[in-house]
Amino acid sequence: MKNILIINGPNLNFTGVRQKNIYGDKTIDDINDILEYEAKVLGVSLGIFSSNSEGKLIYELQEAYMRGISGIIINPGALTHYSYALMDAIDAIDIPVVEVHLSNIYKREEFRRGSVTAKACIGLISGLGYYGYILALKFLSDI
Ligand code: DQA
Repeated sequence: MKNILIINGPNLNFTGVRQKNIYGDKTIDDINDILEYEAKVLGVSLGIFSSNSEGKLIYELQEAYMRGISGIIINPGALTHYSYALMDAIDAIDIPVVEVHLSNIYKREEFRRGSVTAKACIGLISGLGYYGYILALKFLSDI
């Protein structure tokens, strides 16, 4: 059975509370429930990790490698736009990583219109709300 890990970065724990017009009104718990259901349907084991701390995200990526995780879905939040440390951490592990953003980062403020972390990922899904996570899950369970 494939084991897939979702990693959510800074402020994603506030989804459904902050800027609902941009990120939607489902809470992170609602989204996680949907993803757990989808994982069961797909027959994959799912882990979900969330942290506001860059170091903890890096540590989780390294741990995922040690544990033999088969695929990772990451939403690095604002770290997407400037964290070379997180990019290096993704680059360092031999696991397919899909980057997901709830909002379309290319349609927003100038500083969000680029991703340094996506350079280390297999692909990027942006702007489809929580459906992005479902699509990434389907992709990683298939490959
Ligand atoms: C986000 C986009 C980022 O620019 C922002 O800082 C976030 C959320 C998204 O999911 O749309 O925190 O990653």
